[in-house]
Amino acid sequence: MARIVGAVTTSHVPAIGNAFAKGLQNEPYWKPFFGPWDRVHAWLDSVKPDAAVVVYNDHGLQFFLDKLPLFAVGAAAEYRNADEGWGLPTLPPYRGDAGFSWHLIESLAADEFDLTTCQEMLVDHAFTVPLKLMWPHAAACPVRTVPVAVNTIQHPLPSPARCFKFGRALGRAVESYDEDLKVVVVGTGGLSHQLDGTRAGFINREFDLMCMEKIVDDPVALTRYSIAELVELAGTQGVEFINWLIARAALPGRVSKVHANYHVPISNTASGVMVLENRP
Ligand code: DHB
Ligand code: FE
Repeated sequence: MARIVGAVTTSHVPAIGNAFAKGLQNEPYWKPFFGPWDRVHAWLDSVKPDAAVVVYNDHGLQFFLDKLPLFAVGAAAEYRNADEGWGLPTLPPYRGDAGFSWHLIESLAADEFDLTTCQEMLVDHAFTVPLKLMWPHAAACPVRTVPVAVNTIQHPLPSPARCFKFGRALGRAVESYDEDLKVVVVGTGGLSHQLDGTRAGFINREFDLMCMEKIVDDPVALTRYSIAELVELAGTQGVEFINWLIARAALPGRVSKVHANYHVPISNTASGVMVLENRP
């Protein structure tokens, strides 16, 4: 059976992709962000996942304001990257696993989640930057992938409580797959940031650190926030934290923190990175 080895949660700021492209990882601005990824790489080397289920939000590349699903799951043989406007170099296609995807979709639908299924899907920086951070030296992403896109763009967004239930159902879906796959769940976005409006540049360190603490042992405590409260506390784009909550909720076993790094700022964002291990 498939088994979830843990979760990697990380910010997905496009500037990180540009720093990779220009080889800036050891520059003073970037080192506090890139340096601690050694710990993530050591963990990935020890658990050796075969597949990544990537919970992220599309920013207008695949879905735009005219049609925007709350939850969309990829079911393609491969996923292509495109530059959605940040000047990012386009990365090689990502290997999918349509059989695994359809199992997840069937299981989530049976669990009463109404999904959009995507047999073609372009993936943006929120998908590509985290996978590049996880496997920086591979020419192409070395694991099979399933993109799970969550609407964090156009209200109404799925509430943190709804996202938690979705994550629980996603975990059940993964672990009921009849193939010996080791799966890492990736949750991307956050932490606090706001790119627009009068609060542009808003950061809330205290709230972010509380979230990074609670998400380990008491994630349910984070489900009491409404989306409006998350916007107020974390910024309009800080709501991307719901992707972290889904990834955490997908871990069905005993969860322990392997690694955490918090660094402000990366571009306009408070960057957070965590590795949460899942034991049966
Ligand atoms: C930035 C952060 C994001 O999450 C994003 O999607 C785009 C830009 C930023 O801080 O620059
Ligand atoms: Fe974003």
